[in-house]
Amino acid sequence: MSGKALVTGAAGFIGSHLCERLVSDGWSVTGIDSFTDYYDPQRKRMHISGLAGSKSFSLVEEDLNSCDLAAHLEGVSCVFHLAAQAGVRRSWGAEFSHYIDSNILATQKLLEAMKDTGIPLVYSSSSSVYGDTRDLPMREDHVTSPVSPYGATKLSAEHLCELYRVNFGQRYVALRYFTVYGPRQRPDMAFSRFIKAALGGGEIEVYGDGKQTRDFTFVFDALEANVLASRYEGDWNIFNVGGGSRSSVLDVIEIIRRETGGDPPVRFMEKARGDVLDTWADTTKAAGELGFSPTTGLEEGLRREIEWYRDHS
Ligand SMILES: NC(=O)c1ccc[n+]([C@@H]2O[C@H](COP(=O)([O-])OP(=O)(O)OC[C@H]3O[C@@H](n4cnc5c(N)ncnc54)[C@H](O)[C@@H]3O)[C@@H](O)[C@H]2O)c1
Repeated sequence: MSGKALVTGAAGFIGSHLCERLVSDGWSVTGIDSFTDYYDPQRKRMHISGLAGSKSFSLVEEDLNSCDLAAHLEGVSCVFHLAAQAGVRRSWGAEFSHYIDSNILATQKLLEAMKDTGIPLVYSSSSSVYGDTRDLPMREDHVTSPVSPYGATKLSAEHLCELYRVNFGQRYVALRYFTVYGPRQRPDMAFSRFIKAALGGGEIEVYGDGKQTRDFTFVFDALEANVLASRYEGDWNIFNVGGGSRSSVLDVIEIIRRETGGDPPVRFMEKARGDVLDTWADTTKAAGELGFSPTTGLEEGLRREIEWYRDHS
């Protein structure tokens, strides 16, 4: 499938890669992004700079909550909704209002605009909807019980998708990403911070004892899941998107040390509220129903992130 796509969060880490992938697959893409200052907006401009001048890409620099979505939906054959306020640790306290605005209200506004158009939606959800469960690997039909305000907003948006399906027939696929990494990874995420410390001589700060595990997903595998989801013919579904590279944070630090040649000291800090102990995706359903099969393992993916970091710092 190709045609005209609308990508929200187009200048972000995953969104910018997705715009490039879709354009190279033959789509004509409109990207919306409000360039929030959660991290340096200049960095987001750099993410999207490779598409400047492309006839197949146009950038709308607006907030989903205030832009004329109906106009941007005209002629669109699929919406990829990635815009969000990301980050678990910042989601407590006064910052929560940003999470409500960008993750819940913006999704509701998008669904309102889409509900009678027949355009399918691919929503970027998160493994954080599962919470701190011992029931591993995580399966799509497991109980969802987020332990962070961020996770609660990502789950709310999934619920919104579902109730617009039930009431208005809105088709959607929700993709629950498990810790995505690779070139352009957000600077607040662990790999980015660790690589910066290893190359720049700083200290690696680890929340907790480092034995927590994550099912790390290389960004190009997450893009592949989006492309496959855009071809999904059913009315709705929810899929785990995990890279199959479950490792502990300490293992990751070891690989980064080896690949960078740096030996930064590690400082262990108090476990962050809202962080879960382990994530592990059961991707059987995505494999069977979407044909999803991640191809980049952790060492290779980390090498590519480190290489990107070297070229861009
Ligand atoms: N990176 C991960 O590991 C991960 C894991 C699970 C889920 N996700 C989800 O994937 C999506 C992309 O994450 P990312 O890591 O690329 O984050 P990101 O912060 O790099 O990208 C999000 C983009 O959305 C934009 N945005 C935010 N609110 C907006 C609004 N109201 N209107 C228009 N634009 C807005 C931001 O400016 C930003 O460029 C998010 O929905 C996130 O919740 C990411």
